[in-house]
Amino acid sequence: MAPTIFLLLTLLSIAESTAGKGGGLKLELIRRRLSPGNVSPMAAKSQIWPETSEFIVKIAIGTPPTEVHAILDTGSDLFWAQCRPCAKCYQQTNPIYDPSKSSTFRILSCKSPQCHLRGSGAACSGTDTCKYSYGYGSGSTQGELASEKMVVTSRSGATTSFPGVVFGCGHNNSGTFNANEMGLIGFGRGAISFVSQIGPSVGGRKFSLCLMPYNTDPRISSSLSIGSGSEVKGPGVITAQLVRTSDQTSYSLTLTGISVRKTLVPYSTSGPPAKGNAVLDTGTPPTLLPKELYGRLAAEVRRHIPSKPIDDDTLCYKDNLGDLVMTLHFDGGVDLRLSTIQTFNKMPDGSFCFTAMSVDDKDALIGNSMMANFLVGYDIDNMTVSFKPTDCTKAG
Ligand SMILES: *[C@@H]1O[C@H](CO)[C@@H](O)[C@H](O)[C@H]1NC(C)=O
Ligand SMILES: *[C@@H]1O[C@H](CO)[C@@H](O)[C@H](O)[C@H]1NC(C)=O
Repeated sequence: MAPTIFLLLTLLSIAESTAGKGGGLKLELIRRRLSPGNVSPMAAKSQIWPETSEFIVKIAIGTPPTEVHAILDTGSDLFWAQCRPCAKCYQQTNPIYDPSKSSTFRILSCKSPQCHLRGSGAACSGTDTCKYSYGYGSGSTQGELASEKMVVTSRSGATTSFPGVVFGCGHNNSGTFNANEMGLIGFGRGAISFVSQIGPSVGGRKFSLCLMPYNTDPRISSSLSIGSGSEVKGPGVITAQLVRTSDQTSYSLTLTGISVRKTLVPYSTSGPPAKGNAVLDTGTPPTLLPKELYGRLAAEVRRHIPSKPIDDDTLCYKDNLGDLVMTLHFDGGVDLRLSTIQTFNKMPDGSFCFTAMSVDDKDALIGNSMMANFLVGYDIDNMTVSFKPTDCTKAG
């Protein structure tokens, strides 16, 4: 699809404005709520598959359950779903979740500490209901924060239920969401994120996912593992330490440069790059690079590919490009080798288009196309991210 979905970009300012009210105390509350004594740590494994170029997770919410298909987004924290009554909902194929029909739905009040968990986007005070407002680069959602029972079905068919998960009941939602996307599930580092909430009851705030390449048969699904068993380890695993920045949501790394075959294109031509200059965001399809870096990189890509691009601006080529190896260089000598599976999307017309584009920003965002065919493990507790080259269409 057209690379116009830039979730995350305008989100941070909103998330940060509420960050100070949260903190460690709220994490303790979450543990209490979500770790009833009879739940033993176990991994919840849910199905994901590419929907256009977003990845969707299915989660059943409420009693009786409504199945929600939500965009998996490591670039934000809040889980929200379209919710009746709609002030303004976008068109959706499946029935819209109706809290008045659920016996386990509880709206939060502004006084509730959960209303102010880090990353909640809460916009309220006093004894009102907990209103939230969340913005993305190309969309927004507004509604009330509530708690609800959520059930995850593992690929084996086993179900795991989580009572009292805080989520956004979205009454006013707009943006580039399609009719099969019923909401968005934030897997960021913030305390309100789904993984932060359920992590403690499944063996840790960590998860791994294997994203299929663009244009993979939509009937093929892959896996998202949460908690114990989601660790990415063994031969061939590349692990990087995440950087703590003022942004409490993102998975940030320091990108020092990108090589095209053996030619290094440094991130910056004027001194070392800023720490944590690159975020991993599964909710954004393309990789976004600062204009100046993109220009130097694109020139190098053109130099290494003998044929001329169909369109000079987009770096789309008519034919397969062979083995153009590119490498992302991260701080600490961490090198991630990319093949054309990650750097060029095979389009429906058979052409191949570069998965990076330029933006007016000093920082980079590594989008979901470039993470295709890696099993990527995110560990919030240990602040690491690990990559293992994997054929995600076969990973099950
Ligand atoms: C919905 O949200 C938009 C964007 O924030 C806002 O401009 C609009 O007034 C809201 N509409 C309703 C019906 O609440
Ligand atoms: C994460 O940290 C815990 C304790 O801090 C440690 O026991 C564990 O081995 C670490 N896991 C990985 C995958 O490094």
